[in-house]
Amino acid sequence: MTILLLGSGGREHAFAWKMIQSPLCDQLFVAPGNAGTAAIATNVNISPTDFDAIKTLVLQENIEMVVVGPEDPLVKGIFDFFKNDDKLSHIPVIGPSKTGAQLEGSKEFAKEFLVKHNIPTAAYDSFTAETVEQGCDFLATLKAPYVLKADGLAAGKGVLIIHDLAEAKEELRNMLVGQKFGAASTKVVIEEFLDGIELSCFVLTDGKTYKILPTAKDYKRIGEGDTGLNTGGMGAVSPVPYVDAVLMEKIESRIVKPTIEGFQKDGIEYKGFVFIGLINVNNEPIVIEYNVRMGDPETEVVVPRLKTDLVELFLAVANEKLDEITLEIDERSATTVMLVSGGYPEDYEKGKVITGLENITDSIVFHAGTKLENDTVISNGGRVLAITSYGNDFQEAIKKSYQNIDKLHFDKMNFRKDIGNDLL
Ligand code: AMP
Ligand code: GLY
Repeated sequence: MTILLLGSGGREHAFAWKMIQSPLCDQLFVAPGNAGTAAIATNVNISPTDFDAIKTLVLQENIEMVVVGPEDPLVKGIFDFFKNDDKLSHIPVIGPSKTGAQLEGSKEFAKEFLVKHNIPTAAYDSFTAETVEQGCDFLATLKAPYVLKADGLAAGKGVLIIHDLAEAKEELRNMLVGQKFGAASTKVVIEEFLDGIELSCFVLTDGKTYKILPTAKDYKRIGEGDTGLNTGGMGAVSPVPYVDAVLMEKIESRIVKPTIEGFQKDGIEYKGFVFIGLINVNNEPIVIEYNVRMGDPETEVVVPRLKTDLVELFLAVANEKLDEITLEIDERSATTVMLVSGGYPEDYEKGKVITGLENITDSIVFHAGTKLENDTVISNGGRVLAITSYGNDFQEAIKKSYQNIDKLHFDKMNFRKDIGNDLL
């Protein structure tokens, strides 16, 4: 079949790498893709949120399935756009409906869903510019640190964790009245701070049943020892050694099951990935967020561990036959280290020539922010390349990633040298 994949990051290169291994995939288009996807599929220079251009492409190329990588097109309603168009309604879109995507698009919607379905989450209340003073009073009833979350999509920057009460009140005013995050902070969720270890759970669902994918941990901060600014993610490890069967059972019965049942009870159409962000507080998993897509760079370690055909999985999602599939997982560990542009996550330069790609052995290079210019691969984003390796344990895998990184170069290249160290 002919498939279209939307997105341009490492997550999409990893999906593409896996999908083209499927005998079910005859042709793969990626919009807009990167230099990595260009080498294995056909890139089309269309934005994932330009639905009219996507429609034209889909009809022109007889595309039979659309897989959505990032959250933006989902929150903007690409699932519903296809469903409500006579010419497109028969083409499955892998991703939730617009209502389902609100789980990521609105923190308040997510909190209401969690509470309604009795899924463990931090206590909260939400406020607007009109109720900013009540918000300040609410902050005063909480213990430090204070967690402020912009309701809408804010490119991963909408969560503030503040230790001082006066400063928290000030920031609340900045968000609600000063529009610190634009429209995204028209509403703000104030949440109880949870003290514990973060972990993520990835689920694929057809809306009725689900498969839990391998666990993965990402490294969010720019600096070693988890210091400095938040990034999209600087590396990842799968599986997460401290997630045992007992914890996984709690996550499944208390969180995953009621989430999928919640979709059915609320009439939410959901055929795609659910990425559940959790904090493990004294062995009690508590939800801090939903994302309606796979994580990046977690995909770069989760997908390589899937032995099951990914296209077959997507077809089962589309046809609501996920229960007929058995997931097969590679026993090995996988790790990835992200090479980023100097300056990222603040200002950085693009267009740097990347050398050494041809010398990589025993690792997979997933392109995150690259493009081809006159047959040369150049950097085209903050996160540039993800170097994924397998090993019998994560130590062996990470060693391979770092050995291969030694062979790669671009001007001002930066990466964390401590991925996985906290797990030793
Ligand atoms: P989110 O965008 O919801 O994932 O939040 C970004 C980061 O803020 C998370 O990865 C956590 O590290 C942190 N965070 C979010 N909510 C809480 C909470 N209730 N307690 C402690 N940390 C939190
Ligand atoms: N790595 C975190 C995310 O994709 O949101």
